[in-house]
Amino acid sequence: MVDRFGRDITYMRVSVTELCNLRCRYCMPEDGIFKKRHDQMLTEEEMITAIRAAASLGIRKLRITGGEPLVKKNILSICRRASQVPGIRELCITTNAILLPPLARPLREAGVSRVNISLDSLDARKFRTITRCGELRQAAEGIRAALEAGFEKVKLNTVLIGGFNDDEIPDLAELTRRYPLDLRFIELMPMVDSGDFSPEAFIPCKVVLEKLPELRPVSPDGGVARLYRLPGAQGNIGLISPVSAHFCAACSRIRLTADGIIKPCLHSGEEYSLKGLAYEDMVEELRRAILCKPLWRGVLDAENHSRAGRSMNQIGG
Ligand code: 5AD
Ligand code: SF4
Repeated sequence: MVDRFGRDITYMRVSVTELCNLRCRYCMPEDGIFKKRHDQMLTEEEMITAIRAAASLGIRKLRITGGEPLVKKNILSICRRASQVPGIRELCITTNAILLPPLARPLREAGVSRVNISLDSLDARKFRTITRCGELRQAAEGIRAALEAGFEKVKLNTVLIGGFNDDEIPDLAELTRRYPLDLRFIELMPMVDSGDFSPEAFIPCKVVLEKLPELRPVSPDGGVARLYRLPGAQGNIGLISPVSAHFCAACSRIRLTADGIIKPCLHSGEEYSLKGLAYEDMVEELRRAILCKPLWRGVLDAENHSRAGRSMNQIGG
């Protein structure tokens, strides 16, 4: 479906849980989250109905997110059923990879074609610092499992944090030479939980180009990343600049949260609830949400935090 500004909305990010086995500093409050009541969250049935409703309006691509989607007990069933909804052509998932080793193959068999894995440091001590509790070794095993499971694409997502991992840009980029995977650097977005980052933490993606002068531009693939490649590399390096150069004009996405809210834009407080609705009413509510998708996200910088009204784990990263 085309919105008021001529953008064709074809991509829905579906958060299946707010819970996570890590506590990344830019995403989650330290003491975890206030766990919502079970009956406030969408059931598997409602999720699939919402996906059918969205597909009827032209959604073609889904990304399963969280929280951490792999902590959800019925994740394989959700993926299998989502991938079979008529109209859905592509099912992707974003994970921290900790639980991937036993799940990578079953996810592939359940219809997941692409996996994005969060990885902010190659140093075990720093990995623990940013995730507050994660083991780098476990994430590395998850990445290996993803590479062995035969996905069409495996991408690593690194949130760029000045003074924390900007010194690791060359080492992270090197992974695209050693393995058949893509790496994307994402600018740190000032969300409600980004309060303990100093202004120096918010660095633009162009720092990557300065540190890696050998990067060569590659033609875009229709996504929001600007693409580059190192000589001799097996995968691309993508730069995603939600802060320094927003991509609102090309935004084709909406979001469905685990408690059944449609967010037409990540950074606006606008919310439309699908919880408890029948299929036809979900279609109507989705239509309303798409027609209210704002033109752009508004000012976003170290002083002007997102007006999302929720932390990232409650929206879907
Ligand atoms: N800024 C940028 N990216 C974020 N993510 C979560 N919170 C933020 C933030 N404040 C993204 C990261 C992570 C994924 C789950 O969500 O890319 O890998
Ligand atoms: Fe969990 Fe991902 Fe948020 Fe980290 S960024 S706390 S892994 S949901």
